[in-house]
Amino acid sequence: MNQLLKNVLTLAAVVSVSVVSAQKKSATPVYLNEDAPIEQRVEDALERMTLDEKVAFIHAQSKFSAPGVPRLGIPEVWCTDSSHGIREECAWDKWSGAEWTNDACTAFPGLVCLAASWDPELASRYGVAIGEEARYRNKTVLLGPGLNIYRTPLCGRNHEYMGEDPYLVSTLAVPYIKGVQSNGVATCAKHFALNNQEQRRHSTDVEISDRALYEIYLPAFKAATVDAGSWSIMGAYMKYKGEYCCHNQYLLDDILKGEWGWDGVVISDWGGVHDTHQAIHHGLDLEFGTWTDGLSQGKANAYDAYHLADTLKTLVKAGKVSEDVLDEKVRRVLRMVFRTTMSKDRPYGSFVSPEHSAAAREIAQGGIVLLKNENKVLPMRPAEVKKLLVVGDVATASMMKSGSSTTLKAKYEILPLDGIKAAYPNAEITYMRGYEVDKRKAEPLKDVVEAAREADAVIVFAGLYYKGGQDAEGVDRKSMELPYGQDKVIEALCGVNPNYAVVMVSGTGVAMPWKDKVPAIVQGWHCGSEAGTALASVLTGEVNPSGKLPYTYYASLDQCGAHVLGDYPGDKNHHQVYRDDIFVGYRFIDREGIKPNFPFGHGLSYTTFEYSNVRINRTKGNANSKWVVSVDVTNTGDVDGKEIVQLYVAAPKGKLNARAVKELKGYNKVALKAGETRTVEIPMDFSSLAYFDEAMHDWNVLAGEYKALIGASSQDIRGEVAFEVK
Ligand code: BGC
Repeated sequence: MNQLLKNVLTLAAVVSVSVVSAQKKSATPVYLNEDAPIEQRVEDALERMTLDEKVAFIHAQSKFSAPGVPRLGIPEVWCTDSSHGIREECAWDKWSGAEWTNDACTAFPGLVCLAASWDPELASRYGVAIGEEARYRNKTVLLGPGLNIYRTPLCGRNHEYMGEDPYLVSTLAVPYIKGVQSNGVATCAKHFALNNQEQRRHSTDVEISDRALYEIYLPAFKAATVDAGSWSIMGAYMKYKGEYCCHNQYLLDDILKGEWGWDGVVISDWGGVHDTHQAIHHGLDLEFGTWTDGLSQGKANAYDAYHLADTLKTLVKAGKVSEDVLDEKVRRVLRMVFRTTMSKDRPYGSFVSPEHSAAAREIAQGGIVLLKNENKVLPMRPAEVKKLLVVGDVATASMMKSGSSTTLKAKYEILPLDGIKAAYPNAEITYMRGYEVDKRKAEPLKDVVEAAREADAVIVFAGLYYKGGQDAEGVDRKSMELPYGQDKVIEALCGVNPNYAVVMVSGTGVAMPWKDKVPAIVQGWHCGSEAGTALASVLTGEVNPSGKLPYTYYASLDQCGAHVLGDYPGDKNHHQVYRDDIFVGYRFIDREGIKPNFPFGHGLSYTTFEYSNVRINRTKGNANSKWVVSVDVTNTGDVDGKEIVQLYVAAPKGKLNARAVKELKGYNKVALKAGETRTVEIPMDFSSLAYFDEAMHDWNVLAGEYKALIGASSQDIRGEVAFEVK
């Protein structure tokens, strides 16, 4: 072949290859091109969709799925509960399980335990791990994290949320969300907003000042959507200003999509949509639910009768609703699909891996709180305990089934008693139920007391079950008291054996009438698959506890602002004024000078920490001024440990009628070897000083003298420095 012919052939080959690839390219619609910008994909897909497809796209087709656009290859949208584990597959149109055999998950600790860790790195690990499980199960949306504020200890879902302080919740929500979404699974921050109680959650209309709304109840949602970029959010069941939160013009259009400029999907809580006009016009994008008008009425498979279904289609066809309104909702759902299931960056996930077990265990270990430890009763070192008495039905009760959205089918669950047996292999362990639960019979109390007298050490596991009226959805507790007469058993053992510890397995505060008589108390939460291992590791001292309370542990309800000042649970018309306003948790405690059982931010260690030399430095001189508050912290004990150093700001009152005595604005969890001293730095910016000015409808900062307070808890302030804002 001569050179010329060779060249011609090569050229022909190149031309034919590029023709083929051009053909291929032009054959690939933009919406299927994973490299195209998302907004272009959205517009291209939208153009191709028929009216029927658009309407179908924005409401459920089954209990947990919406249909996608099968003709175009756009996959179904699959949602799954919950914040702390991936729920089993449900039957198509039922809450009950579909009886698959490959869907048993890793159960992670409840979010309140994560909050008690005060550890953004653990929050990130949590998000990554649960996101991997959701991805493996091919879910589009994880229905969490729960971000409502702990306003009353009675709220049945406190265990799903992250405590009473908006700053703490926000700083943990962000890494959790980023972790989940790094798996190509959308989070659905819930329940937006004001779902601070379960009692009358479908009918309560909340009245609240703008200041309390913006300062206490919205920051975590703003952090979730604006800072972390959560791709979806769930409307709450409650009403605000007379409109249900799932289609609430103020919350969704004005604040979320307006002020915050957020471009994600508003998903209704299941059955939370009640008004077709509002559902169409007030911010809702994707309707999920059970029946046609809420949770309890209608017929099975009623999806066509949803508010965003046939009715909407008829209205659009009749020209009564502009197709633009529908398109805007479709766009948002498409955007979420391109960010998740149709993204080339979506990894593959993993399920019930050893890494997930380790994450679950370490989150639990980081969040368990040592509330009290007189005479160093804890740790109970295995070498020193020959005869151990374990009491309490909780020690052997599974904490997986709540009957509602937190129910998990876990691959495994290490119960507290199993954890103890493994941690004390050489001890003689006696287990007694102590109190009767359901039909599980208990021993006579005198026998339990007798056994306690003969043991070297006694551990009582007490707490709340995932059951209606305890730690569960749909209803609040009636009082702070422990159920099943558990207090009686705990009381009976006081003074019998000096080596006595009570472990509280609950997701919220309970009354502790015996608090002063029990030498050691541990807040053990609901820790999921690794509960037993994590609890035992703290009791034996293998792990030095480092969690601190993310909420005020009230001695009784009359220490809680919502009960004293608010009108919880609302009046006879289900109208509720949040008279406690910004005075939630420690903000109320501080103002009233109350001594709760344990304050917000409290938690002990097997070592002790000394604080000295609190100082403040300014890092920049302009309006975005940043300060760094520093303190030297020394581990003064003989074991390594972690301390959570807290920064509170006390602001001048200025023209404000009411201002919290102090507010949490920073924290830093540091590991210190025995004897080690470290300088702990906590940055703070201008926004830490702001309050929500109702007249301006914006954040504002008063000039005057501020104080930076450094504490080991909200009631254990170790040092302070003043600084001036001009
Ligand atoms: C709960 C949500 C949950 C949804 C789906 C509702 O009852 O309030 O938190 O995600 O059900 O199970």
